Amino acid sequence: MHTKALLGLSLLLVSSTVLADEGAADYRHHTMEAIGGHTTAVFDILQGKVPHGAHLAAHANAIADMAAIAHTLFPEGSIGGNAKAAIWEQPDVFAERIQAFQEAAPAFRDAIVGGGEIGPAAQALGQACKGCHDDFKDE
Ligand code: HEC
Repeated sequence: MHTKALLGLSLLLVSSTVLADEGAADYRHHTMEAIGGHTTAVFDILQGKVPHGAHLAAHANAIADMAAIAHTLFPEGSIGGNAKAAIWEQPDVFAERIQAFQEAAPAFRDAIVGGGEIGPAAQALGQACKGCHDDFKDE
C-alpha cells in the first residue's frame, strides 16, 4: 500500500468514538448492500435472466460467509442508517432473526454446492431476510 494511504488509514483508526459508531453503522450498511447484491444476482440467475448457473456457488458462498459475521454488525451504540432501535431494545427477538439467517444461508449454499433442492432453500433464505427486515429495518 502507498505510504500516504497508510498514513490516512492510521489517522482514520485513531478517530473519535463518535466517528467509530458512525463507521460501524456505515460498515453494516455496506455489508448489507453486499449481501443484497449477491442475493439479487442469485435470483437473476434462478429466474433465467442470465445464463450464469456456474456463478451460483460463488454467490451462495459469499452469502453464507456474510451470514456468519452478521451478528457482529450491530454493536451497541451503532444505531444509524435504516437500523431500528428495536434491534437493541429487543435483543432476544433480534438474536432469533440472526440465527434464522445463519441457518438459512449455509443451507442455501449446501443446496447449491451439494446439488440439493434449490427452490425451497432460496425461499427460506428470502424469508430469513424479510423476517428480520419487517421488524428491524426502516423502509
Ligand atoms: C437479522 C436481521 C437481518 C437479516 C437476517 C438481513 N438483514 Fe438486511 N438489513 C438489516 C438491517 C437492520 C438493515 C439496515 C442497516 C443499516 O442501514 O444500517 C439492513 C439493510 C439491508 C440492505 C440495504 C438497503 C436498506 O434498505 O437499508 C439490503 C440490500 C439488505 N439488507 C439485504 C438483505 C438480504 C438480501 C438479506 C438476506 C439474504 C438480509 N438483508 C438479511 C437487517 C437484516
